Amino acid sequence: MKLLAGKVAIVTGAARGIGEAVAIKFAEEGANIAFTYVSDSSKEKAAALEQKLQALGVKAKSYQSNAADFAACEAFVNEVVKEFGTVDICVNNAGISKDNLLLRMSDAQWNEVIQVNLNSVFNMTKQVIRPMMKAKSGSIINMSSVIGEMGNAGQSSYAASKAGVIGFTKSVAKELGSRNIRCNAIAPGFVETDMTSYLKEGEGADKYKAGIPLGRFASAEDIANVTLFLASDMGNYITGQTISVCGGLNI
Ligand code: NAI
Repeated sequence: MKLLAGKVAIVTGAARGIGEAVAIKFAEEGANIAFTYVSDSSKEKAAALEQKLQALGVKAKSYQSNAADFAACEAFVNEVVKEFGTVDICVNNAGISKDNLLLRMSDAQWNEVIQVNLNSVFNMTKQVIRPMMKAKSGSIINMSSVIGEMGNAGQSSYAASKAGVIGFTKSVAKELGSRNIRCNAIAPGFVETDMTSYLKEGEGADKYKAGIPLGRFASAEDIANVTLFLASDMGNYITGQTISVCGGLNI
């Protein structure tokens, strides 16, 4: 029996990177997938992923929807419930970084990161808990970051947004545990995706890898594996937790 057979899963920002790896992993385990992308330039990638997921034998649909926009999230989740019947799993993955030293950071840069990384998690969670409460079950997984736990020079907005996600996750777990809705966060370390493409091989990469006990960056699949664990019944008694998937970077 596949771990997510027949479940309906939402993944935000899944046209590439960690979100894409999560969508594929979930589909391989039998979940039907509704995923979002935001920019016109991601349209082709989203269509290709939709086909790839369908070829795995599940129902899959992509939606162009901005996770940072409250009304858009409401419309998106309503559409998913109409099309798929319910929402069992929600992975709040969409995120950005706009790194700058505090001295040089504008309020626009700060607000954009908080809006996309933190407000999006509120926007989506607020919507998906309605069908989950009706079903008396659900699993919400929020993509935080090891930077939200440790902080990092040049990443104050990113760190604040990801630390906010951890506090939000714990609160939702306390509010909705009695309804059998679990809410957890994952705190990845450095993951090889477009977001970290500035960490090319060579001296820069070697410097970062030297600080990681496992001596390498994560693959998107490393993160998808833990997301699957938390989404499935394997993680049935886990809620309010932040699981670090960082190769030991935070110890
Ligand atoms: P990525 O940049 O490759 O993918 C992020 C995706 O989110 C993109 O497809 C982007 O279009 C989408 N997105 C951005 N804003 C959106 C919005 N408003 N609405 C909907 N979609 C939106 O990044 P990656 O690496 O796959 O990151 C995924 C998540 O994991 C992010 O939340 C990121 O902060 C987090 N993370 C990534 C780490 C890394 O080293 N790559 C480390 C720790 C956390």
